[in-house]
Amino acid sequence: AHQWRGVIREYADRLPMLDGAPVITLHEGGTPLIPAEKLSERVGAEVFLKFEGLNPTGSFKDRGMTAAISMAAKAGAKAVVCASTGNTSASAAAYATKAGMTCAVLVPDGKIAMGKLSQAIAHGATLLQVDGNFDDCLTVARKLAEAYPVELVNSVNPARIEGQKTAAFEVADALGDAPDIHCLPVGNAGNITAYWKGYREAVEPSRSGAPALATRTPRMWGFQAEGAAPIVLGHPVDDPDTVATAIRIGNPASWKQAEAARDESGGVIDKVSDEQILEAHRLISSSEGVFVEPGSAASVAGLLQQHERGEVPAGARIVCTVTGHGLKDPAWALKLADGSEVVPTQIPVDAMTAAVELGLEG
Ligand code: F0G
Repeated sequence: AHQWRGVIREYADRLPMLDGAPVITLHEGGTPLIPAEKLSERVGAEVFLKFEGLNPTGSFKDRGMTAAISMAAKAGAKAVVCASTGNTSASAAAYATKAGMTCAVLVPDGKIAMGKLSQAIAHGATLLQVDGNFDDCLTVARKLAEAYPVELVNSVNPARIEGQKTAAFEVADALGDAPDIHCLPVGNAGNITAYWKGYREAVEPSRSGAPALATRTPRMWGFQAEGAAPIVLGHPVDDPDTVATAIRIGNPASWKQAEAARDESGGVIDKVSDEQILEAHRLISSSEGVFVEPGSAASVAGLLQQHERGEVPAGARIVCTVTGHGLKDPAWALKLADGSEVVPTQIPVDAMTAAVELGLEG
């Protein structure tokens, strides 16, 4: 019998930083790369969705958190802290619990999805709602970690990037090479940094001499929400705003690294509107059968925008990471394109009425 052992054990040969650390894992990673036929047809390319919502806490953060918490355990830490728009806090809370550590999370007041809040609380984290945005939360978290005996597990912690780079290894493994283009939502910019590191390392043999996973690197296409697009604008945004609360960030910690990923890969970092994000969100669930949270849909919204601008090469192999599960923030699915609420049709206990309503009869 064999089951996926989590990213640290599966990719130990490419994660030297984790040598000697106790492995704290919920068996994250090993997520499917799903061919997206409708999307492929629409943009005239071969599109895949890397469905990161299928990680243990429902987002890609688990890849980085297994590494960050394992390193914290190695250092003898008893407590961890993070700032979060929701998913990092859910993941930190779960992995801290697994390691027997306490976890404190700082979240922006009123701007985090219910599913994520529930997870942090269910896993016993101490949750503080900060009267400010994510960037303010991160400032407070950094200060706490400097002054007190708590480990910071945001993506400024290099172990987070190490863990998250394994997603690029999985894509290269699944396709037999790197794709031509890789699309991602960009918030604090840790993930685009991690993927680019992963793809660069994937073209090298592993340290024990296992063959390279890829022969080339992809172009990195990152997408911010229009109301929270500091990298696109070239300056921090004081009051970031978007329906995609996951990426509601005005001053990304890995700003420089994201620009490097863009420039070194010959890629782009652009912005998409909330309307485009919600349209892509609906498209992914209604035509591909994959339910993601709004922030995740920024990758697909960006791909569609690039297609409309004639920037998608015919037949290119494209991977869009969809970063978090739709159940994290399900309310958006119950809103129609015009903003009105979906109201289920009520019927009595009667098969004939059901048949008529379903268009099977009369
Ligand atoms: N997608 C989702 C679902 C996220 O939760 C995040 C970030 C991103 C994309 C962007 O990734 O920050 O590495 O550029 N969420 C962080 C959090 C900020 O606190 O959960 P990034």
